[in-house]
Amino acid sequence: MSETISVVGLGKLGLGLALSFASGGYRTIGVDINDANVRLLNRRRTPIVEPQYQELLEEVGERFEATLDHGRAIRESDVTFILTATPSDRAGRFSSRDVEAAARALGLALGESRKPHHLFVVSSTLVPGTTEARIIPVIEAASGRRLHDGFSVCYDPDFVALGSVVRDFTHPELVVIGESQPGVGEPIEAIHRRICRNTPVVSRMPIVSAELAKVSLNAYITLKITFANTIANLCEAIPGADVDAVTRAIGVDRRISPHYFKGGLAFGGTCFPRDTYGFRAVCREHGEDASLIEAVAALNDRQNERLADVTLAHASAEAPVAVLGLAFKPSTPVIEASPAVALVDALLAAGREVRVYDVLALDAARARYGARVSYAASAANALEGAATAVLTLGERALREAVEHWTPPREAVVIDCWRVLEASRLHANVTQVALGRYRPSRQATTALAA
Ligand SMILES: NC(=O)c1ccc[n+]([C@@H]2O[C@H](COP(=O)([O-])OP(=O)(O)OC[C@H]3O[C@@H](n4cnc5c(N)ncnc54)[C@H](O)[C@@H]3O)[C@@H](O)[C@H]2O)c1
Repeated sequence: MSETISVVGLGKLGLGLALSFASGGYRTIGVDINDANVRLLNRRRTPIVEPQYQELLEEVGERFEATLDHGRAIRESDVTFILTATPSDRAGRFSSRDVEAAARALGLALGESRKPHHLFVVSSTLVPGTTEARIIPVIEAASGRRLHDGFSVCYDPDFVALGSVVRDFTHPELVVIGESQPGVGEPIEAIHRRICRNTPVVSRMPIVSAELAKVSLNAYITLKITFANTIANLCEAIPGADVDAVTRAIGVDRRISPHYFKGGLAFGGTCFPRDTYGFRAVCREHGEDASLIEAVAALNDRQNERLADVTLAHASAEAPVAVLGLAFKPSTPVIEASPAVALVDALLAAGREVRVYDVLALDAARARYGARVSYAASAANALEGAATAVLTLGERALREAVEHWTPPREAVVIDCWRVLEASRLHANVTQVALGRYRPSRQATTALAA
């Protein structure tokens, strides 16, 4: 296996994967169809905001190169990862259109080459069965070769999270490799082992099982988050109860584990909701009972409504509501399916004035809301004149701004993750912590009746 790897699709994940390979010593060819991004990357500037991307681009230097030419991936490497986007349709099914387009371009280049073999590694999230039913036939048709007679295919899903993509690629707990026939995943396992700073458990299996493993993992995590949220909601109704005391205690049990087990807000972002809907679509498609995952999807929507209800119950019609944190999690500008965005939507629908601040996501917010909300230059600025603040992320800059907030009149901060210490707040500021007993919660529970 040569020391060159190619990655097709240099988006939020693909760029991180390519940089992780380059950082692990591989020469890496990155292919994308976005001309502006390719040029930017070759000037060593990242088009994507994500921890370590800029630093790694500078550090790996010439080992990473971006191009618009799929043919270079075939000519200059023997293994190509495909990591293009797979947007979901209304039913939750992932579209494989971009993966097929990439596979076609690569297949055509393979057809023109004389090399004996190429290994394609699909990494995008797909409906289980898609690699065999659609991607492999596309490569066969475009290249004029047959599977295992000139090329083979793996499915290597990513379990990384935005905000820690490079860290997660280099410190995974698990690596799943689907193989078009036993053994073809060997070089992929070797690549992972080389770029990993830890020793993950590597599981090799047929491709369709790996595709199913990908959607199952995220669907399971959303189940767990939803369970923590159910405990949090329960705690709000029971005097003295605190969700953190409960989840911390039982999270010690190995069967549960403390990760992703903190009640508060709905899950959001680019992966959890759509993998959950994807899993639901797979269940339905195969005639299997989807009620477990349907309940998760419905309860998650309800969790967003609860936040809107709590906020509206405390929001004055005269003063703006300050929403601190818009991204679906810290360290990312991504606002897709963010609980904070669901909140802003609900506040606007209720006719409230909204002022927003986020460390990284203000541009994304501007693109979504235009002039419908006002944008603060800092968290402190967002709080000026507000009577209600909602802290949707626990980031330090946001937390500290609330701690230094000195409103002239009574004000409320809704502390979604219980990151504020009541003793540090100004006397005029009342903390409303989600997941803790709240005597005045009647207003928020009508919807559950
Ligand atoms: N974002 C996440 O948190 C996450 C986590 C795990 C898995 N995934 C999966 O990873 C995949 C990629 O997601 P993303 O968020 O990086 O997507 P993205 O939209 O950020 O990036 C996709 C990139 O592919 C490029 N592209 C499209 N068609 C192409 C083609 N024919 N040839 C070359 N490049 C092409 C686009 O220009 C873009 O740069 C998806 O299937 C997603 O479900 C995402």
